[in-house]
Amino acid sequence: MSPADPNPRAERFSRLKGTHDILPAQVPAWRHLEKTVADVMSRSGYHEIRTPIFERTELFSRGVGAQTDLVGKEMYTFEDQGGKSLTLRPELTASIVRAYLQHNLDRDSPLSRLYYLGPLFRQERPQKGRQRQFHQFGLEALGSPHPEQDVEVISIAWELCRALAGGELTMRINTIGSPGSRAGYLDLLRQSLEPFKAGMGENDARRLATNPLRLFDTKDPQMRALLQEHAPKISEHVSAADSDHYAAVQAGLDTLDIPFASDPTLVRGLDYYTRTTFEITSPVLGAQDALCGGGRYDGLVAQLGGPSTPAVGFAAGIERLLLAATESGHEPAPAETPDVYMAATGDDLIPQATALTHELRKGGLSVVQEVMRRSLKAQLREANRLGCRFAVIMGDTAGANKGMAVVKNMTSGEQTELPLDEIVAEIRSSLG
Ligand code: HAM
Repeated sequence: MSPADPNPRAERFSRLKGTHDILPAQVPAWRHLEKTVADVMSRSGYHEIRTPIFERTELFSRGVGAQTDLVGKEMYTFEDQGGKSLTLRPELTASIVRAYLQHNLDRDSPLSRLYYLGPLFRQERPQKGRQRQFHQFGLEALGSPHPEQDVEVISIAWELCRALAGGELTMRINTIGSPGSRAGYLDLLRQSLEPFKAGMGENDARRLATNPLRLFDTKDPQMRALLQEHAPKISEHVSAADSDHYAAVQAGLDTLDIPFASDPTLVRGLDYYTRTTFEITSPVLGAQDALCGGGRYDGLVAQLGGPSTPAVGFAAGIERLLLAATESGHEPAPAETPDVYMAATGDDLIPQATALTHELRKGGLSVVQEVMRRSLKAQLREANRLGCRFAVIMGDTAGANKGMAVVKNMTSGEQTELPLDEIVAEIRSSLG
């Protein structure tokens, strides 16, 4: 039901703006995605981690940066009964680093490869591809400063986005240098944009003074044009070591035949990034076209109280990937259909039908049992509607007493009467 066509039955308790129900018909696509993510991650040596939905607000303001849009405007923050400020997680990298430190994962091994999947919350204006509760999967690799780690992370992101969204995708990458080398660039950026300060909005003028890199997060076309024309390119002002790292990342992507474009304005909207940043976009999505974004964040672990630890990761938006798959006609996940419809022709046969349902399920078959006491014709119609490959019919008392039931192949229409203890094997061999 579209928002323009409100259902009067749901007027009182409709879902909140920017939130979505994931209905049974949509779940197979989600499961397919979740399975693909788990397969690719485990083939690449990543282990799943699950962290709480809410954390101390300070984790995000310190980790992501108080002047980012994410922290400044978009967080769902509330006080608990003890007066502590808590926030529904708006992103997962800070939470993962918190868990990594809290459980001393660095003591088990110098390198932690972690992945995750779950809901996030951002108070943004809802539109196509932008929700207030949405889901991401992603990974964080903590411990290696080397470019081959960036290449691994980017290549996993690329492989998953291609497998899940299909269609033509674009990858943009950049380097924003390390904090030491960035200071000089930030001065230069301020000087170059100072003459235009009077024409800027209040927010941008403040950012120019306090955190000029955040100016690149603007959606304002005029501001974008200004940056395009007058902002020096950050990748041209980083240290030699940063440039070497960037060159090695690009060479690694070339080796893997992963296409990319360098985009000197790609700074990403979160404060923790250092050196590599990247984003994968899909042209079928419209304004909210980023499927996935990530980069290196060599300072975050120390920023959150841990030892200096290099790290790199990405996160992808699940709703956007599924939307892109639909819009580009990418093959949807096969529907999940039951193997068997368990039918009974009379009320007195229901106990036997219930017992056989249980046996068939124990034998590994998926079985839907009739519980509406409909006519056999209506039961078989239901079996067809659900896409069941077989119907097992408790047909008459004589048959049931002899320990027999009828197995009907719903595709060919063929019917065979079989002993109850042979039905599982018969159906399993036909299902192949
Ligand atoms: P992000 O770019 O904020 O990065 O989010 C990653 C992806 O989440 C986006 O590319 C988009 O697909 C999806 N997304 C973000 N906001 C929404 C929304 N309101 N509705 C629907 N989808 C959305 C991060 O979150 C970083 N933690 C990524 C990272 C991991 N960097 C290093 N490690």
